[in-house]
Amino acid sequence: MSVNVPLLDGKIALITGGARGIGEGISLRFGREGAAVGVLDLNASAADSVVERIRLEGGRAIALPANVADGAQVRKAVAALAKAFGGPDVLVHNAGIMPEGAIEAISEEQWDRVFAVNVRGAYLTCREVLPAMRAGRRGSIILMASITGVNGFPGLAAYSATKGALISLARATAIDYAAEGIRVNAVSPGTIDSPMLHEFVASQADPHRTRLAFDQVQPRGRVGTIDEVVNVVAFLASDQATYVSGANVIVDGGLSIKGEQPRV
Ligand SMILES: NC(=O)c1ccc[n+]([C@@H]2O[C@H](COP(=O)([O-])OP(=O)(O)OC[C@H]3O[C@@H](n4cnc5c(N)ncnc54)[C@H](O)[C@@H]3O)[C@@H](O)[C@H]2O)c1
Repeated sequence: MSVNVPLLDGKIALITGGARGIGEGISLRFGREGAAVGVLDLNASAADSVVERIRLEGGRAIALPANVADGAQVRKAVAALAKAFGGPDVLVHNAGIMPEGAIEAISEEQWDRVFAVNVRGAYLTCREVLPAMRAGRRGSIILMASITGVNGFPGLAAYSATKGALISLARATAIDYAAEGIRVNAVSPGTIDSPMLHEFVASQADPHRTRLAFDQVQPRGRVGTIDEVVNVVAFLASDQATYVSGANVIVDGGLSIKGEQPRV
C-alpha cells in the first residue's frame, strides 16, 4: 500500500507578501502540502486571516506582520518563525509593489520605495534565512520576478528594473550557495488575475478596455490564475526540484514568446 506524503511535508517556509493575491495562494497551498508557514505581510489583519484559514484546514502557520524593506523587522519575523517551528528551509520572496511610469514620471521616492520592497526586501530576507539553510545544508529560495524583468513593459520602468534585478540576484546567489545544498530560482509570471492586476486595471482611464486588452493579447486568450503560479512555486520549493537552481521559470502562457504587449 502506498502512502501519499504531502509535497512539502516537514518544510518550514517563509512567504513574504503572503497575505494577498499570489502570496496568499502560496501560503494556503504550502499549508495544505504539509509545510509550516510564516505569513509575512505589511497587512497584519490579512496575514492573521490567512493563518486562521491554514489552521482550520489542519495546517501550521504563524502571522508575521512586518515591512520586508526594514532589516530589523525582517530579523524579528524570521526569529519568531524559528521559535515557533524552527529555522526556515524555504523562502518565497513574493512581496512586491508596482508603481507606474516611465523614468520622467517616477519620483525619487517612488523609485526608492519600489527598490526597497522588491529588491532590498529580497536581500534582507535571504540574508536572514541563509544561516539556518546553511546549518541544515538544504534550502530553496524563490524570488518572485516578472516577465517585465526580461522584456520590460511600457510605463513600468522602475518595476521592470527591480524584476530584472531579482532574476540576476537569483542567478548570482544560486552560484554562491550551490555547494551548500541551497537552490535559488526566480519565477516570472506574465499577467495574473490577482488584486494587483485588478488595481492596475481600475486605475486606467478605461478599465474595461484595459482588461480586454490584457486578455486578448494572451496566447491562451486569458490571463493566468494564481494557482497556475502557485503550482510552479510549490514544485521549486519541493524535493522534486533538487537539480533546479539559477533558473528563471517563466509562467506566462507563452506571452513573451509571442512578443506582443497589451495596449493599455
Ligand atoms: N499579478 C500579476 O500579474 C503579476 C505578474 C508578475 C509578477 N507579479 C509579482 O508577484 C508578486 C505578488 O503579486 P500580486 O499580484 O499577488 O500582488 P498583490 O498586490 O495582490 O499582493 C502583494 C502583497 O504584498 C504585500 N506587501 C507589499 N509591500 C510589502 C512590504 N513592504 N512588506 C511586506 N509585505 C508587503 C501586500 O500587503 C500584499 O499582501 C509581486 O512581487 C508581483 O510583482 C505579479
